[in-house]
Amino acid sequence: MMTNIDPDRVPKHVAIVMDGNGRWATGQGLSRVEGHVQGYIALRNIIEAASDLGIEVLTVYAFSTENWRRPEEEVEALMRLFAKAAHQEMENLMQNSVRMMVSGRFHELPKEVQDSLSADIEATKNNTKIIFNLAINYGGRSEIVDAARALARKAAAGEISPEEIDEKTFSQYMYAPELPNPDLLIRTAGEMRISNFLLWEIAYAEFYVTQVLWPDFNKEELINAILDYQGRTRRFGAVVEETKR
Ligand code: FPP
Repeated sequence: MMTNIDPDRVPKHVAIVMDGNGRWATGQGLSRVEGHVQGYIALRNIIEAASDLGIEVLTVYAFSTENWRRPEEEVEALMRLFAKAAHQEMENLMQNSVRMMVSGRFHELPKEVQDSLSADIEATKNNTKIIFNLAINYGGRSEIVDAARALARKAAAGEISPEEIDEKTFSQYMYAPELPNPDLLIRTAGEMRISNFLLWEIAYAEFYVTQVLWPDFNKEELINAILDYQGRTRRFGAVVEETKR
Protein backbone atom coordinates (compact mmCIF):
# COMPACT_ATOMS: atom_id res chain seq x y z
CA MET A 1 0.00 0.00 0.00
CA MET A 2 1.41 3.43 -0.99
CA THR A 3 1.16 6.06 1.70
CA ASN A 4 2.43 9.60 2.26
CA ILE A 5 3.79 8.65 5.65
CA ASP A 6 7.24 10.04 6.45
CA PRO A 7 9.12 6.87 7.39
CA ASP A 8 11.49 8.84 9.63
CA ARG A 9 8.67 10.19 11.82
CA VAL A 10 6.52 7.16 12.43
CA PRO A 11 5.37 7.18 16.10
CA LYS A 12 7.39 4.57 17.98
CA HIS A 13 4.61 3.78 20.44
CA VAL A 14 0.92 3.96 19.53
CA ALA A 15 -1.74 3.38 22.21
CA ILE A 16 -5.40 2.73 21.33
CA VAL A 17 -8.69 2.93 23.25
CA MET A 18 -10.69 0.40 21.19
CA ASP A 19 -14.17 1.83 21.75
CA GLY A 20 -17.47 1.19 19.98
CA ASN A 21 -17.83 -2.59 19.79
CA GLY A 22 -21.24 -2.41 21.49
CA ARG A 23 -22.49 0.37 19.21
CA TRP A 24 -21.24 -1.47 16.14
CA ALA A 25 -23.10 -4.63 17.19
CA THR A 26 -26.32 -2.75 17.94
CA GLY A 27 -26.10 -1.10 14.52
CA GLN A 28 -25.84 -4.54 12.88
CA GLY A 29 -28.63 -6.03 15.00
CA LEU A 30 -26.12 -8.29 16.77
CA SER A 31 -25.33 -8.95 20.43
CA ARG A 32 -22.63 -6.89 22.21
CA VAL A 33 -20.52 -10.01 22.49
CA GLU A 34 -20.53 -10.35 18.69
CA GLY A 35 -19.22 -6.79 18.59
CA HIS A 36 -16.27 -7.85 20.76
CA VAL A 37 -15.57 -10.82 18.48
CA GLN A 38 -15.50 -8.44 15.52
CA GLY A 39 -13.26 -6.14 17.59
CA TYR A 40 -10.84 -8.99 18.03
CA ILE A 41 -10.67 -9.45 14.24
CA ALA A 42 -9.99 -5.73 13.82
CA LEU A 43 -7.23 -5.96 16.42
CA ARG A 44 -5.48 -8.83 14.60
CA ASN A 45 -5.40 -6.72 11.43
CA ILE A 46 -4.14 -3.63 13.26
CA ILE A 47 -1.23 -5.49 14.87
CA GLU A 48 -0.14 -6.57 11.40
CA ALA A 49 -0.69 -3.09 9.94
CA ALA A 50 1.23 -1.41 12.77
CA SER A 51 4.11 -3.82 12.22
CA ASP A 52 4.13 -3.10 8.45
CA LEU A 53 4.19 0.65 9.09
CA GLY A 54 7.22 0.41 11.37
CA ILE A 55 5.48 1.09 14.69
CA GLU A 56 7.62 -0.47 17.44
CA VAL A 57 5.11 -0.72 20.28
CA LEU A 58 1.30 -1.04 20.17
CA THR A 59 -0.63 -0.84 23.46
CA VAL A 60 -4.38 -1.52 23.39
CA TYR A 61 -7.00 -1.11 26.10
CA ALA A 62 -8.79 -4.48 26.16
CA PHE A 63 -10.31 -4.41 29.66
CA SER A 64 -10.25 -1.72 32.33
CA THR A 65 -10.45 -2.08 36.10
CA GLU A 66 -13.92 -0.51 35.72
CA ASN A 67 -15.14 -3.03 33.11
CA TRP A 68 -15.91 -5.62 35.86
CA ARG A 69 -19.09 -3.57 36.44
CA ARG A 70 -20.53 -4.66 33.08
CA PRO A 71 -23.22 -7.38 33.03
CA GLU A 72 -21.77 -10.68 34.26
CA GLU A 73 -22.44 -12.46 30.98
CA GLU A 74 -20.56 -9.81 28.99
CA VAL A 75 -17.56 -9.98 31.38
CA GLU A 76 -17.55 -13.78 31.15
CA ALA A 77 -17.76 -13.71 27.36
CA LEU A 78 -14.88 -11.24 27.19
CA MET A 79 -12.74 -13.40 29.50
CA ARG A 80 -13.48 -16.48 27.38
CA LEU A 81 -12.57 -14.49 24.27
CA PHE A 82 -9.25 -13.34 25.79
CA ALA A 83 -8.29 -16.89 26.80
CA LYS A 84 -9.28 -18.37 23.45
CA ALA A 85 -7.68 -15.63 21.35
CA ALA A 86 -4.42 -15.78 23.29
CA HIS A 87 -4.33 -19.52 22.70
CA GLN A 88 -5.17 -19.44 19.01
CA GLU A 89 -2.91 -16.48 18.15
CA MET A 90 0.35 -17.94 19.42
CA GLU A 91 1.45 -19.32 16.05
CA ASN A 92 0.57 -16.08 14.30
CA LEU A 93 2.51 -14.03 16.88
CA MET A 94 5.55 -16.23 16.30
CA GLN A 95 5.27 -16.06 12.51
CA ASN A 96 5.10 -12.27 12.59
CA SER A 97 7.77 -11.90 15.28
CA VAL A 98 5.39 -10.12 17.66
CA ARG A 99 6.47 -9.93 21.28
CA MET A 100 3.47 -9.96 23.60
CA MET A 101 3.34 -8.21 26.96
CA VAL A 102 0.53 -7.33 29.36
CA SER A 103 -0.11 -4.32 31.57
CA GLY A 104 -2.59 -4.49 34.43
CA ARG A 105 -3.43 -6.34 37.63
CA PHE A 106 -2.72 -9.68 35.99
CA HIS A 107 -3.14 -11.88 39.07
CA GLU A 108 -6.79 -10.84 39.50
CA LEU A 109 -7.72 -12.34 36.10
CA PRO A 110 -9.34 -15.80 35.82
CA LYS A 111 -6.76 -18.57 35.81
CA GLU A 112 -7.50 -19.65 32.19
CA VAL A 113 -6.84 -16.11 31.00
CA GLN A 114 -3.61 -15.86 33.00
CA ASP A 115 -2.41 -19.22 31.72
CA SER A 116 -3.03 -18.58 28.03
CA LEU A 117 -1.55 -15.07 28.20
CA SER A 118 1.49 -16.34 30.15
CA ALA A 119 2.12 -18.95 27.47
CA ASP A 120 2.17 -16.23 24.75
CA ILE A 121 4.37 -13.92 26.82
CA GLU A 122 6.88 -16.71 27.42
CA ALA A 123 6.87 -18.06 23.84
CA THR A 124 7.25 -14.63 22.21
CA LYS A 125 9.77 -13.06 24.58
CA ASN A 126 12.61 -13.05 22.03
CA ASN A 127 10.53 -11.74 19.10
CA THR A 128 11.73 -8.39 17.78
CA LYS A 129 9.49 -6.95 15.04
CA ILE A 130 6.89 -5.26 17.25
CA ILE A 131 5.81 -5.28 20.89
CA PHE A 132 2.10 -5.86 21.43
CA ASN A 133 1.17 -4.72 24.93
CA LEU A 134 -2.30 -5.80 26.05
CA ALA A 135 -3.76 -3.56 28.76
CA ILE A 136 -6.05 -5.96 30.62
CA ASN A 137 -7.56 -5.38 34.05
CA TYR A 138 -5.72 -2.11 33.58
CA GLY A 139 -6.38 1.19 35.35
CA GLY A 140 -4.15 4.25 35.14
CA ARG A 141 -4.78 5.16 38.78
CA SER A 142 -4.24 1.55 39.92
CA GLU A 143 -0.92 1.54 38.09
CA ILE A 144 0.20 4.69 39.91
CA VAL A 145 -1.05 3.31 43.24
CA ASP A 146 0.81 0.02 42.63
CA ALA A 147 4.01 1.95 41.91
CA ALA A 148 3.54 4.09 45.04
CA ARG A 149 3.01 0.97 47.16
CA ALA A 150 6.15 -0.70 45.81
CA LEU A 151 8.17 2.44 46.51
CA ALA A 152 6.65 2.81 49.99
CA ARG A 153 7.64 -0.79 50.75
CA LYS A 154 11.21 -0.07 49.66
CA ALA A 155 11.31 3.12 51.71
CA ALA A 156 9.90 1.33 54.78
CA ALA A 157 12.59 -1.34 54.37
CA GLY A 158 15.22 1.40 54.25
CA GLU A 159 16.21 0.51 50.69
CA ILE A 160 15.42 3.91 49.21
CA SER A 161 15.15 7.37 50.73
CA PRO A 162 12.10 9.53 49.87
CA GLU A 163 14.44 12.20 48.45
CA GLU A 164 15.75 9.76 45.87
CA ILE A 165 12.25 9.34 44.38
CA ASP A 166 11.97 11.45 41.24
CA GLU A 167 10.04 11.02 37.97
CA LYS A 168 12.65 8.67 36.58
CA THR A 169 12.63 6.38 39.63
CA PHE A 170 8.84 6.46 39.76
CA SER A 171 8.62 5.46 36.06
CA GLN A 172 10.64 2.35 36.81
CA TYR A 173 7.80 1.06 39.02
CA MET A 174 5.14 1.28 36.29
CA TYR A 175 3.83 -1.95 34.69
CA ALA A 176 6.08 -1.79 31.59
CA PRO A 177 9.05 0.42 32.47
CA GLU A 178 11.08 -0.76 29.47
CA LEU A 179 8.62 0.72 26.96
CA PRO A 180 8.94 4.28 25.64
CA ASN A 181 5.97 6.55 26.43
CA PRO A 182 3.23 6.59 23.76
CA ASP A 183 3.72 9.23 21.06
CA LEU A 184 0.20 8.87 19.70
CA LEU A 185 -3.00 7.95 21.54
CA ILE A 186 -5.94 6.96 19.33
CA ARG A 187 -9.52 6.63 20.51
CA THR A 188 -12.23 5.23 18.25
CA ALA A 189 -16.01 5.83 18.41
CA GLY A 190 -15.77 9.57 18.96
CA GLU A 191 -15.54 9.94 22.75
CA MET A 192 -13.15 12.71 23.90
CA ARG A 193 -12.16 10.96 27.13
CA ILE A 194 -9.05 9.28 28.55
CA SER A 195 -11.05 6.77 30.66
CA ASN A 196 -8.21 6.04 33.11
CA PHE A 197 -5.84 4.84 30.35
CA LEU A 198 -2.04 5.25 30.78
CA LEU A 199 -2.41 8.40 32.90
CA TRP A 200 1.29 8.61 33.75
CA GLU A 201 2.64 7.64 30.31
CA ILE A 202 0.53 9.90 28.05
CA ALA A 203 1.80 13.18 29.53
CA TYR A 204 3.04 14.34 26.10
CA ALA A 205 1.17 12.00 23.74
CA GLU A 206 -0.70 13.47 20.78
CA PHE A 207 -4.41 12.62 21.01
CA TYR A 208 -6.36 11.53 17.90
CA VAL A 209 -10.07 10.78 18.05
CA THR A 210 -11.99 9.22 15.16
CA GLN A 211 -15.73 8.60 14.82
CA VAL A 212 -15.02 5.17 13.30
CA LEU A 213 -16.18 2.33 15.56
CA TRP A 214 -13.45 -0.11 16.59
CA PRO A 215 -14.66 -3.10 14.50
CA ASP A 216 -14.45 -0.85 11.41
CA PHE A 217 -10.98 0.51 12.24
CA ASN A 218 -8.47 -0.70 9.64
CA LYS A 219 -5.03 0.01 8.18
CA GLU A 220 -6.31 2.98 6.19
CA GLU A 221 -7.68 4.55 9.38
CA LEU A 222 -4.38 3.91 11.17
CA ILE A 223 -2.54 5.63 8.31
CA ASN A 224 -4.91 8.63 8.62
CA ALA A 225 -4.09 8.86 12.34
CA ILE A 226 -0.34 8.75 11.64
CA LEU A 227 -0.62 11.40 8.91
CA ASP A 228 -2.52 13.65 11.32
CA TYR A 229 0.17 13.05 13.95
CA GLN A 230 2.92 13.88 11.46
CA GLY A 231 1.25 17.21 10.74
CA ARG A 232 1.60 18.37 14.33
CA THR A 233 4.47 20.19 16.04
CA ARG A 234 5.44 18.57 19.31
CA ARG A 235 6.83 21.01 21.84
CA PHE A 236 7.00 19.03 25.10
CA GLY A 237 6.28 22.26 26.99
CA ALA A 238 9.06 24.22 25.31
CA VAL A 239 8.81 26.94 22.67
CA VAL A 240 9.58 25.69 19.18
CA GLU A 241 9.71 27.80 16.03
CA GLU A 242 6.99 26.86 13.58
CA THR A 243 8.53 24.30 11.23
CA LYS A 244 7.75 24.02 7.52
CA ARG A 245 5.33 21.24 6.77
C1 FPP B 1 -15.10 -1.17 23.99
O1 FPP B 1 -16.31 -1.20 23.28
C2 FPP B 1 -14.45 -2.45 23.93
C3 FPP B 1 -14.13 -3.23 25.01
C4 FPP B 1 -14.38 -2.85 26.41
C5 FPP B 1 -13.52 -4.52 24.83
C6 FPP B 1 -12.30 -4.49 23.98
C7 FPP B 1 -12.06 -5.83 23.50
C8 FPP B 1 -11.82 -6.15 22.23
C9 FPP B 1 -11.64 -5.18 21.11
C10 FPP B 1 -11.63 -7.55 21.91
C11 FPP B 1 -10.17 -7.74 21.93
C12 FPP B 1 -9.88 -9.13 21.95
C13 FPP B 1 -8.73 -9.64 22.41
C14 FPP B 1 -8.54 -11.08 22.28
C15 FPP B 1 -7.65 -8.85 23.05
P1 FPP B 1 -17.65 -0.97 24.09
O2 FPP B 1 -18.18 -2.31 24.45
O3 FPP B 1 -17.41 -0.04 25.22
O4 FPP B 1 -18.55 -0.30 22.99
P2 FPP B 1 -19.73 0.74 23.23
O5 FPP B 1 -19.13 1.93 23.89
O6 FPP B 1 -20.20 1.03 21.84
O7 FPP B 1 -20.74 0.04 24.07
